[in-house]
This record gives sequence, structure tokens and C-alpha cells, in this order.
Amino acid sequence: MLLDNKLNITDQIELSKAEEKISKQKAKQLFDSNDIEKIEIGTFKGLAYIHAYLFDDIYHFAGKIREVNIAKGADLQNISRFAPLMYLEPSLKHIDAMPQNNFDEIIEKYVEMNIAHPFREGNGRATRIWLDLILKKEIQQVIDWNAVDKDDYFSSMQRSVVKDVEIKVLLKQALTDKIHDRALFMKGIDVSYYYEGYSEFKTEEL
Ligand SMILES: Nc1ncnc2c1ncn2[C@@H]1O[C@H](COP(=O)(O)OP(=O)(O)OP(=O)(O)O)[C@@H](O)[C@H]1O
Ligand SMILES: [Mg+2]
Repeated sequence: MLLDNKLNITDQIELSKAEEKISKQKAKQLFDSNDIEKIEIGTFKGLAYIHAYLFDDIYHFAGKIREVNIAKGADLQNISRFAPLMYLEPSLKHIDAMPQNNFDEIIEKYVEMNIAHPFREGNGRATRIWLDLILKKEIQQVIDWNAVDKDDYFSSMQRSVVKDVEIKVLLKQALTDKIHDRALFMKGIDVSYYYEGYSEFKTEEL
């Protein structure tokens, strides 16, 4: 389904390319301008800031809580229904208050935020930046997304709704101390976009 957009694009492929290009430019700017340092860590407010930063030129709903219910899954047997609208705001308040003192607590918080899926589109990409900021602040590590296989990531995330052990194991082996590494950040954006089907542009080159 073609999302209503600020660019007045009506062609799906064209919209997908424009979204990738513009939001990757914004991700690069977020890092290079140091605006990334202003983000509140581990709250919905911080996540909404990231989402708005990436998508505000493209979508009216950037940084805003969704107004429709969402479900995702490869087939009807494996479908995940994200938080129903009536529980979304209370659930975001609850997530804000969740502890983030160690790796396990941080991943548990990430899993809950994924179940909330607060935005109409762009949840995966915005929430992975949010996760890395929590890890960076609390345990002085980030994820090297290039060390996380796409299929393993999706099956662990699908499973995380029921049990979070697989996603914890998968992300733990990809932790790195390179928390100030610009190239690692840019590459991480590219991999994060690749997970969601966007691999036309390299963030570094935009
Ligand atoms: N079936 C599922 N069960 C649980 N989590 C899922 C499932 N499918 C996807 N996810 C998680 O949601 C993230 C975003 O995927 P999804 O396509 O639902 O959201 P989106 O809002 O379109 O985000 P983006 O635009 O960044 O792709 C994935 O990266 C993954 O972490
Ligand atoms: Mg998407």
C-alpha cells in the first residue's frame, strides 16, 4: 500500500527510493551534526525524536504515534500483532519506566518497544538506533549490525514476542566497544536498512 507522503509521490518504487535516500541522509546528519547527543536515552520521547529526524521530510506521521493497528508475519501461523491502539500509550509509559542497567534488561526493553511498534512505518530502523544509544550509554558497547545475519535477526525477533533468549544470544555476540566509530555507525545504518529491503544507497556516500 502506498503511504500518503509529503513528496506527493504516487509511484511505490519511486517513494521507496526517495525514502531510503532522504532518511539515510538524515541518519548521517544525525551523527555528523552531533544532534545524536541530544537524544533522551531509553524513552519513547527519544525514539520519537529519532523517527521524526529521519522521516519528517517524507511522512506527516513522522515522530507521531500510529492511528491504525498493525500485524506482521510471513504467514497466518506466524503473525505478530503489535500493541492494539487502545494499549499503545499505556504500554509506552510502561516501557519508559523499564530498567536498562545491563545487557539483558536493555534487550528486554527493546523487545517490548518492538511489540509496541509505535509508528505507522519505520519502526525497525528508528528503534535499532534507539537500542544502540541505550547500549552505548549504559554498557559502553554498541551492536555491529554487520555481524548480525538478516534471517537470524528476523527469526529471533519473531520469536522474541514469546521468548527473548534467541535475540539476546544473537545480539550479544555482535557487541563491540567501538562506540565512537563513525564508519561503524554508517555501516550499521546500511545493514539496518538492508534488513527492511532498502539497499540502493550507501549512507557514507550520500
Ligand atoms: N513478525 C514479527 N514479529 C515480531 N517482530 C517483527 C516481526 N516482523 C518484523 N519485526 C520487527 O519489526 C521491525 C520492523 O519491521 P516492520 O516491517 O514491522 O516495521 P516498519 O515499521 O515497516 O519498519 P521499517 O520501515 O524500519 O521496516 C523488524 O526489523 C523486526 O525487528
Ligand atoms: Mg517498513
